[in-house]
Amino acid sequence: MTQDEMKKEAGWAALKYVEKDSIVGVGTGSTVNHFIDALATIKDDIKGAVSSSEASTAKLKELGIEVFDCNEVARLDVYVDGADEINSYRDMIKGGGAALTREKIVAAISDKFICIVDDTKAVDILGQFPLPVEVIPMARSYVARELVKLGGDPAYREGVVTDNGNVILDVHNMQISNPKEMERSINAIAGVVTVGLFAARGADVVITGTPNGAKIEE
Ligand code: 5RP
Repeated sequence: MTQDEMKKEAGWAALKYVEKDSIVGVGTGSTVNHFIDALATIKDDIKGAVSSSEASTAKLKELGIEVFDCNEVARLDVYVDGADEINSYRDMIKGGGAALTREKIVAAISDKFICIVDDTKAVDILGQFPLPVEVIPMARSYVARELVKLGGDPAYREGVVTDNGNVILDVHNMQISNPKEMERSINAIAGVVTVGLFAARGADVVITGTPNGAKIEE
């Protein structure tokens, strides 16, 4: 089975967490794209979605799923999103697709975070995947120097502007043994919009696409 087929297994398995007549929180990325395809098959049974990126919004609308403004919705039952890495405590690195800030916002208004991944995303210690940090453009150099003090090796993601008009620094060579503390420290740097560590609010359910189908951990 290819990695994309495993992503598809995970994406379609998440459908069982979608309640009738609900508004669903929808993340971003290739795994989520499979979930959106699945969601489209039950679009008449749901009210719609709150989306975490312009890319997901475009796909949702193309498939006839109504997209609500996050400000119109007080809470969501579920948020379904992928991850770049996930550890056994369900802390995640996200933001490979540069959508981390909106993802964190939609996750924050959701009761349950359903993480959909293929089985290459599970790690013992987070940090092999370069940690994305969304930064206000004028603070880029300052934030990079502060990230070096925290032990990282930040690289400017050239040519990428986030949906919020900011830039991304990808921090290499971080051994993230305490994800919650690292999330707090990086978020406290002036000019950081958010770090792609999801530890203060990790995943509640993990659905892993494997060669033998989807494995669900609640
Ligand atoms: C986007 C993300 C994605 O969830 C993450 O990059 C995983 O993507 P994919 O499902 O394509 O492997 O955080 O900002």
